[in-house]
Amino acid sequence: MRLDVVTIFPEYLAPLEVSLVGKARARGQLDVRVHDLRGWTHDRHHTVDDTPYGGGPGMVMKPEPWGEALDEITASGDGEPVIVVPTPSGRPFTQELAAELAGRDWLVFTPARYEGIDRRVVEEYGERHDVREVSIGDYVLAGGEAPVLVMVEAVARLLPGVLGNAESHRDDSFAPGAMADLLEGPVYTKPPSWRGREIPEVLVSGHHGRIARWRRDQALTRTAAHRPDLLRRCDPRALDRQDRAL
Ligand code: ADE
Repeated sequence: MRLDVVTIFPEYLAPLEVSLVGKARARGQLDVRVHDLRGWTHDRHHTVDDTPYGGGPGMVMKPEPWGEALDEITASGDGEPVIVVPTPSGRPFTQELAAELAGRDWLVFTPARYEGIDRRVVEEYGERHDVREVSIGDYVLAGGEAPVLVMVEAVARLLPGVLGNAESHRDDSFAPGAMADLLEGPVYTKPPSWRGREIPEVLVSGHHGRIARWRRDQALTRTAAHRPDLLRRCDPRALDRQDRAL
C-alpha cells in the first residue's frame, strides 16, 4: 500500500518510522511518502495561509499550494488514490472505514492547520477522485497530523502480514462478527496471583465454551457501562446463535 501525506510539519509524522508502521515500511508492505506543502509555494515566505473571506478569527489554507501538490502526487502513480481530508467536520472514522481504506492500494492524506483548507480544493478533487472528509472524534485538534497518525495505524494493522498474529484483531472491540458492537473485555497474563488479586478462575478451566461465554458477558457489562449507545445497536439474536455454537 502506498501512503502520501502532505503537511507543513513533516517532522510531526516521524512516528510513522517506528513500531508497527515502521516495521511494515521496512518489510516493504507500506510505501510512506511525507511531503512538505511549502515545497509547492513560490513566494519568499512560502506562504500557505491567508485571512478568511467573510471575516472571522484564524487563517485559511490557500488553495494554490494544495492544488499543485495534489496534481503532482495524484499523477505520480498508476492507481486511483483515495484522498483523506482530516477535519473535525468530517464523517466519523470507524473500524469499518479503516477496513475499507485497508482494501485500497493508495491513500493520500491532507492534514490541515489553522481553520482548514479553502473549500474549493475538496470540490475540485472530489470531481476527479474519491475524497473523504474524516473526523477522528468530537473534539478539535490543532491540526490534522495527529488524526493522520491515528488513521494510518488503524489501517496498517489490518493489512495482511502486518500484525504478527493474523488472529489478533479478531476479538478487537469493533471487529466484525457477532460481537461487532461490543467493547472488548478485560485481559490477564501471568502471574496468576498479583498483590492478592487472582485471575478469574474460568480462564484456567480449559473449557472453551465457558471462556467464550464469560468473555461475551464481560464485553456486554463493559459496553453497558462505557458505551450504552453501542448496546442499542447490538443484535441479541447474533449473540444467541454464537451461544448455540459453543
Ligand atoms: N483536525 C482537527 N481536529 C480534528 C479531528 N477531530 N478529526 C480530524 N481532523 C481534525
